[in-house]
Amino acid sequence: MDPEAAPQRLQTIERHILDQQERFPEATGRLTSLLYDIALSAKLIARETTRAGLANILGATTGINVHGEIQQKLDVYADEVIFRMNDHTRRVCVMASEEHDELRRIPDHHQPGYYVLIYDPLDGSSNIDVNASIGTIFAIHRKITPGNGHGTEADVLQPGTALVAAGYVVYGSSTMLVYSTGAGVHGFTLDTSVGEFLLSHPDIRIPSPGKYYSINHGYEREWTPGIRTYVRWCQAQNEPDMQPLAQRYIGSLVADFHRNLLRGGVFLYPGSAANPTGKLRLTYEVQPLAYIAAQAGGYASDGLTDILDLQPKSLHQCVPFFVGNRDLVEQLEQTLAEHDRDALARYRTVRDAV
Ligand code: AHG
Ligand code: MN
Ligand code: MN
Repeated sequence: MDPEAAPQRLQTIERHILDQQERFPEATGRLTSLLYDIALSAKLIARETTRAGLANILGATTGINVHGEIQQKLDVYADEVIFRMNDHTRRVCVMASEEHDELRRIPDHHQPGYYVLIYDPLDGSSNIDVNASIGTIFAIHRKITPGNGHGTEADVLQPGTALVAAGYVVYGSSTMLVYSTGAGVHGFTLDTSVGEFLLSHPDIRIPSPGKYYSINHGYEREWTPGIRTYVRWCQAQNEPDMQPLAQRYIGSLVADFHRNLLRGGVFLYPGSAANPTGKLRLTYEVQPLAYIAAQAGGYASDGLTDILDLQPKSLHQCVPFFVGNRDLVEQLEQTLAEHDRDALARYRTVRDAV
C-alpha cells in the first residue's frame, strides 16, 4: 500500500460537529451528542433502505398514518429508530414525528433533557418500492417552557428563526447527511466500508443562476393564475433573451431540495383552490429545509412571508412551500402578488386563523 495514498484531510461528522461546537464557549456538548445520535440513526436507516428488498421490508404495513396515507414498513422502522435512539439520552425533552398525531413523550422512567427534536422519519415514501431517492428531515429547538420537565407543544411550535440546528439525510446513489447549526451548510457522504460520514461538501452555497424548476405538473389544472404565469416565466415562454430553466421533479422533497441546493433552482409546492395550504408540513419538512436554504444563501417563502418568520399554529399545519435561489423565489412572490390577490387573501385568512 502506497503511504502517499493515505487521505490528507479526512473529517468525520463527529469531528466536524465538535469543531463547530467550539464557536460556543458555553456549550456542554449536548447538541453535539444529539447530532451524532441523529447521524447514527441515519446509518441504521441507510442500512435498511439499501437492503430493503432482501430484508422483506418493502411494501406497506396495514397502518394508516395521521395524514391518512398508507404507512410503508420503512416509515415505521425509521420512526422507531430515531425515537429510541433519543428517548433515553437526557438530551431531548420531547419529540414530534410526522408519523404521529400527538407529541412523542420521553418515557417516564427516563429523564427529559433540554432539546426538542422534530422529524420526518422517511420522506418520499411513495418512492421506496421503486428504488428512487428518499430521505429523513430533522429540526432541533431549545426548550422554551420553564423547568426541567417534559417538553410541550409550545416547545415544538416555534418559528424557524429559533432553530438551533436542522438538516436532512438523503438515501440516494450514496447516503448524504447535510446539516447546519447556523454557521453554513455542510454535507457528509457515508463511506459504508468504514461506516463513517465523511465531509464531502464543506460550506455549501446555492449556485447562481439556478438551473432547475421543480413542481408537480400533474396538478396544473389546480394552479392559480400566478403559478401558471411563473412556470411560463421559468420556461422563458415570453422571454426570448432568457435561458429556460430545466424541469426536474422526483416526488421526494428531500431529493428535489438537495438537487436544487447543489445545482441552483426553485422548488414549488403550491396550494390549490380546494386546498390553499398545500401538502407539505411546516414543522416537519418546511422549516428545516427553509433554514438550510437560508444558511446556503437561498430563501424560502409561503408566497407571502419568509417561512422562517412563520409562527406554527398546530403540529401538522401545512403551508405552500417555495424554496431555492433568492432571486427566483422573490420573482415568484412578485408574480403571485400581481396575479393571485384573492387566492393569497384566502390563504392568509386560513394561515392566520388561531
Ligand atoms: P412523505 O413521504 O413524508 O409523506 O412526504 C411526501 C411528500 C414530499 O416528499 C414530496 O415533495 C411530496 O410528497 C410529493 O407530493 P406529490 O406526489 O403530491 O407531488
Ligand atoms: Mn415528507
Ligand atoms: Mn414521511
